This record gives sequence, C-alpha cells and structure tokens, in this order.
Amino acid sequence: MCGIIGITRGPGLDAGECEVLDVLVEGLARLEYRGYDSAGLALVGPGGDDPLWRVRAANGTRSLDDLTKRTEGAPADPSAGIGHTRWATHGRPNEENAHPHTDCHGHLALVHNGIIENHVELSDRLIADGHHLESETDTEVLAHLIESHLAAHPDEGLAGAVRAALAEVRGAFALAVVHDSEPDVIVAARRVSPLIMGVSDGAAFLASDIPAILGLTHDFFILDDDRVAELRPGVITVTTLEGEPVEPAPLHVDWDLDAARKDGYDDFMAKEMHEQPKAVADTLLDRLLPDGTLVLDEVHLTNEQFRGITKVFVVACGSSYHAGLMAKYAIEHWARLPVEIDISSEFRYRNPVVDEHTLVIGVSQSGETVDTFQAVREAKSLGAKVLIITNVVDSSMAREGDAVLYTRAGPEIGVASTKTHLAQITALEVLALYLAQVRETLSPAEARGLLDAMGSLPDKVAEAMTRGDAVHAVAERFRDSPSFIFLGRHVGYPVALEGALKLKEISYLRAEGFPAGELKHGPIALVEPGTVVVCVATRTPVWEKVIANVAEVKSRGASVVLVANDGDEETARHADEVLWVPATEHLFAPVIDVVPMQMFAHSMARLHGLDVDRPRNLAKTVTVE
Ligand code: G6P
Repeated sequence: MCGIIGITRGPGLDAGECEVLDVLVEGLARLEYRGYDSAGLALVGPGGDDPLWRVRAANGTRSLDDLTKRTEGAPADPSAGIGHTRWATHGRPNEENAHPHTDCHGHLALVHNGIIENHVELSDRLIADGHHLESETDTEVLAHLIESHLAAHPDEGLAGAVRAALAEVRGAFALAVVHDSEPDVIVAARRVSPLIMGVSDGAAFLASDIPAILGLTHDFFILDDDRVAELRPGVITVTTLEGEPVEPAPLHVDWDLDAARKDGYDDFMAKEMHEQPKAVADTLLDRLLPDGTLVLDEVHLTNEQFRGITKVFVVACGSSYHAGLMAKYAIEHWARLPVEIDISSEFRYRNPVVDEHTLVIGVSQSGETVDTFQAVREAKSLGAKVLIITNVVDSSMAREGDAVLYTRAGPEIGVASTKTHLAQITALEVLALYLAQVRETLSPAEARGLLDAMGSLPDKVAEAMTRGDAVHAVAERFRDSPSFIFLGRHVGYPVALEGALKLKEISYLRAEGFPAGELKHGPIALVEPGTVVVCVATRTPVWEKVIANVAEVKSRGASVVLVANDGDEETARHADEVLWVPATEHLFAPVIDVVPMQMFAHSMARLHGLDVDRPRNLAKTVTVE
C-alpha cells in the first residue's frame, strides 16, 4: 500500500509558481486514501541544515499537519523533493518506520510502495557489510542497497545504482529516490505497484496516481513494470532494468481537479453518493442503441470468442466482490452460463480449473488491487480470456486484460466505495445482457424490455438518493445499537453483504450479512430482543420467503428495518422502520437497493462523529497481498 509523490523543478521558476513543499503536501493529502499511518518527505537543495533534509511524522490522520509544522531547517529553495503516506505492512506505524528512508550517511532518501520479499536476506548481507539499518521495514534495505551500488560504481550515477539494486530485489515496488549529489534528479522505478509521471515546462512529477498531481499538468506517462525513470526539470527519460532506453506511453488526462475535491459536501463519501445517478448513466452511455442492441466498443474479444465461453469466473475484493456476486445471478439467468465467483486472494492459490473456454472477469475500482491483479494474471497464464471492469483508465489491470469495460464513475476519493460500486454493478449487468445477446439466450422482446428497464436506472437511483433524511432518521433511532444483522435472499443477499460491510467499515459497529434462508442454520442464535435486523425485502420472486424469514427474527424480539419498494404497504406491515426505494426489474434491483444501505452507514458514522472518508485501519487501494 502507501502513496508516493515526487517533484523536481528548475531554477527558473519563482517559488510561488511551483513550490516543492506545497506540491508534496497537497499531493500527499490527495493520496491519503492509500493509507495514513504516517507521512514523511525529503527535500534536496541549498539553504537548509543539510543538502538533503528529511521530516517524518506518525500521528495517523494528523501526520501531514505535523509535517507542515516542522519545516525548520529545510532547504530554502529546494530543487527536488519526494513524499510518502504509509499504510503499515512491515513494522509498526511509528516514526522510525515512516518513509523516506535514508542511506547510512543521509545523502540518499527513498520512498516506496510495495513489498520487498527478500528484504531479510538483503539486510543480513548489508549489515554484514557494515551498513546500519534503523527501521523494521522491508523498504530500508533498498536505500542501503542503492548506496552500496553507488559506492561501487559512482560513474553510473543514481539511476545506474537503482537499476543494479533492483536486479537483486524480489517483490513489488513503486519507488522514488533522491541523492544530494544530483540535486535536481529523481530516479523512479516500478514493478506491480502503480506509478505515473507527469511533465511540464521546467518541472517533472511522479505519484502513485493521477489526482495527486493533477493541476500541475495534464500530460502524463505511465511507467511500465521493470522500468527505471530519471526525472529532471522538464524532461523524463526511461530505461529497462538493463539500461536500454524505452519510450514511455503518453497519456493526456482532461479531468478537472475539482472532480477530486468535495464540491461543497461535508465529505467525499456524501459527494460521491450524490454522483451515483451520473456514474450509472455514464457507464450506460453509448452502450445502449435505440434499436435495442448493445455495443461494447472497448471489449476486444470477438463474438466468436464469447460464443466459445463455457464458464465464467468473477474475481474481486471488498465491494467489488459484492458487485460480482450480484452479477452472477444476472449472467446465469440471462446468458445461461455457469458463474463461479471468488475472492481474489483465494482464487490464486487454489489451483483453479480454468482454460481457454473460461472468461475470467476481474472487477476492481482502482485496477491496482494486487490480489485481483495477481488473480487475473494467474488466469491469463492458464489460458483464460480475461476481461477487466475498472474505473481507472490504463490502470495495471486494464493493461493486463484481453478486454476492458470501463466504469465511468470519475475519481473516487472516499475509502468506502459508493459510486464506483453502483457503476460496477451496472457494467456487469451490461456485460450479462451482452453475453445473452451474443449467445442468443434471450428473445429480442425480452432483451428490449430489459434494456428499457436499464435505461431508467439513473433516474431511479436519483430518486432513491432523495430519501436521505428518512434514512438518517432510522439511523438516529438505532444509533446506540451495538450490532446489526443484514439479511437478503437471491440478489438481495449481496446487497445485505454490502450493507453490512459499509456499516462496519465506516461506523466500526458489528454488522454481519447473511443469506436470509441460512439464518435458521446458526446465525439466528445471535438474535435477541433489541437486535437490529436490516433486510432487503423488495419485490423479487423470493419475496414471500424473505418475509417468512423476517417473521422468524421478529418473533424473537428483533427490531426490523426493511428495504421495500415505494408504496408496498404489505411489506411495511412487517417492519419497525422502512427504507423506501423505487421498484425495478428484479435483477437490476441491487443498483437501487444498495443506495439506502450506503446512506444508512454514512448517517450512522456521522452520528458517531467519525471520519467517513478515512476509516481507521483501511486504505482505498490495497497493493499488498
Ligand atoms: C479496499 C477498499 C474497498 C474496496 C477493495 C477492492 O479494501 O477499502 O472499498 O472494495 O479494496 O478495491 P478495488 O479497487 O479492487 O475495487
């Protein structure tokens, strides 16, 4: 995990135009979704205590504020700087373990995202060679390894030393290194963990993602795996690990920086929930033709290849996994293909049975989650066709897939997925209908009816979003309840899982989701007078069974909150509280039914005074296994 950033700038600029420290601090604030256990930065340049100056703080979400208060002794006019925000893996989240890490003499500083798998053997060797390592991290060995190569071959410069060091390293990394002997150079390198670079007149930048440096440039390069880049003011050069020059692929981004800001909402989660109708509409855009057919331009698999598919696997984590689970029902029902769904970190190590007739769908908001990335790589190596559903153009997974279907939700900052989750379900439903179209498993009349229903989803999501006050009142009623049970059947089951996940991740309340029919086989033992049970009871073919399960918990004293379709008084009779939602075709229902679940969790977290955008122990993009 972790976020990294760097900037080098020429002497021609006024400090006010491109102040290194401001760029680093602002960028780190935008990278905090990747972790915020600690933060740190290093600046290179004259006029301070040292030509290479470092500051680190480990005060959780207040680390960045601490850094900005401790700039005494920093270079007055830094030419380059690197920064880091950490999500701890190896070593406690304290100051010694915070990045940047330095070499023995404080001439070199390094920030890293990823894991160095052979760090123990490397550090044993370095210590035997006389290096002094101070932290418990896997990262610090890199600083010393580069130091040793630079000492052995000073003529090859910092970039040469980084290349030589990385030849000895196993694991994943996105890293940036500065050295006081080359004060306007940053050397960056990447394997698996994401790293993008940007260039403008007189400056060059790098970061773990685009929003961190958006506003400084709109012209980016993505650093490929096993590449080393040298950033100098206005110029970026890239080589392989062997030192062969390569041209990095340019990427022009026309997002607005405002998209990465809160737009007047109290928090990003609220803003992003209100963007959901647009996220769903944009994800459908251009894919539904007026004559009732579907077109998927970005899917570079032929219809012939789709017809040859005999089995579908969906791999994903967290909310993306729940989106996959929702889609299983639609793909099986409409396209008549068997669908297996697996948590990415489980899929990879269980010798999955996949071949060239298997379609593996990797679902990932970020396109960088390493568990899912490695799972789809594994599937590809076994011969499967890989289709990626992601929100981030040119992300690592997007580039790995045989085909990509982008969700078009725009950047999501809140750690808890909302708009990207709805866009994922939508994209997966589009794919399900597309598979049905190609395989001719639906009649044209059935398909047209479904496409019409799909076209009305954005308005229905917008309608569901207007019920925020009512949902808040229900959260207020149950604000002191210590634990919640979420129930659903069929497509309502993944909605219940997502409702429970949302509540626990941002409210820290005990919340578990179960299939309503499974309750009687164990979990019902948890129900006692006062237990709050939230159940998806919208009209689906299993509605009667759901209501029977509701009766089972009600008779044991539970307080029942039901998600019900507008005007369905029959369902409301079984509830203590109702979360109303518009009705739709039942296989599309998750797109709408999950909305009150998100609002409920958001209200509950706010009522408890919690920071919904930065829940404890979590990070938005998890790039470690
Ligand atoms: C993290 C986030 C979750 C997210 C999951 C998968 O755990 O906290 O909100 O659902 O990663 O992320 P992805 O980017 O692959 O969808």
